[in-house]
Amino acid sequence: MEEAARKIKVTKTTKSRLAEVDFNNLVFGKKYADHMLVADFDGKEWKNAEILPFQHLSVSPSNAAWHYGQAIFEGIKAYNDQEGRPMIFRPYDNYARFNKSAERMGMPEVPEWLFIGGMAMLIDLDRDWVPSNEGCSLYLRPFMIAADEFIGVRPSDTYKFAIINSPSGPYFNKPIHLLVQDKYVRAFPGGVGYAKAAGNYGGAMYPTMQARKQGYDQILWVDGHEYKWLQECGTMNVFVIIGNRALTPDLTNGTILAGVTRASVMTVLEEMGFEVEERPVSIEEVVAAHQNGTLREVFGTGTAASVAYVEQLDYKDHKISLDTTQYEVGAEVIARLDAIRTGKVPDDKGWNYRI
Ligand code: COI
Repeated sequence: MEEAARKIKVTKTTKSRLAEVDFNNLVFGKKYADHMLVADFDGKEWKNAEILPFQHLSVSPSNAAWHYGQAIFEGIKAYNDQEGRPMIFRPYDNYARFNKSAERMGMPEVPEWLFIGGMAMLIDLDRDWVPSNEGCSLYLRPFMIAADEFIGVRPSDTYKFAIINSPSGPYFNKPIHLLVQDKYVRAFPGGVGYAKAAGNYGGAMYPTMQARKQGYDQILWVDGHEYKWLQECGTMNVFVIIGNRALTPDLTNGTILAGVTRASVMTVLEEMGFEVEERPVSIEEVVAAHQNGTLREVFGTGTAASVAYVEQLDYKDHKISLDTTQYEVGAEVIARLDAIRTGKVPDDKGWNYRI
């Protein structure tokens, strides 16, 4: 934090909005903490780093983020420990992924003093915004956008980096219904699926709207070649529990985001005694397990959603209904993750960054 403190100017708000927030009824992503962090890349280095009151950004209308999607982001959560001290969950993993996304989108790396150090300073300042209520957290949203005033198609020379924070409740308030279809595809090998690029999410909106019209919450994305290999569900990674095995698609062909929650859930499942199989998983295998009675649970994992139970999974004529009230595996994963993230158990993995 020392380097960050030397380089980041701090301008505190004179009028906190904290009292306006009902921490007992938090929803996801609607309220923003008092302060934000901004910095500019001038083509050579990051400068003008500042923590200042939450406000609108001023950017040229011709920048390549608006027009060509040269924009990336991250999702991270901060929790309070049992003494009420804030901790950020695995920020270095998100930091590493942010710079991978930056590379894929032709954007500059963000240095550690700015991403980690700046985030720590920001949470320190907005520590009262970290909720302690069950299922709630401060959702941190670092992002970077192209900033050149130029409408030609080429990587921008200049960029803006920012972090905003939102005290948030659960992303989903009920188990989800998924549709597997062969019409729309999220990602192809060689594409940007593994990056947290803004366009991945924008491109999923229309297909998801179509699925919603049919009564589903999200799409269970499969590959665009054979339309059977699982990729992600909605904006989450996917886990399938069959007997004592936990299956999740592997990351080798670059179509799937390397979720930090995914990695944490894999570790926790192993600790629970499951055989975690990270490999190609086909929808046919899931259907077969359902038919032979070994399919126990399907859930999505992500920072925002944490663990989202799947209640219905439809693929062609196969309608898989799952009784999520009996989800013992998912429930234990959530309990174990929560215990680590809120300091109820010792953090032997070093996942929490204490402020
Ligand atoms: C997250 O889980 O943090 C995400 O980025 C998903 C979504 C809210 C965009």
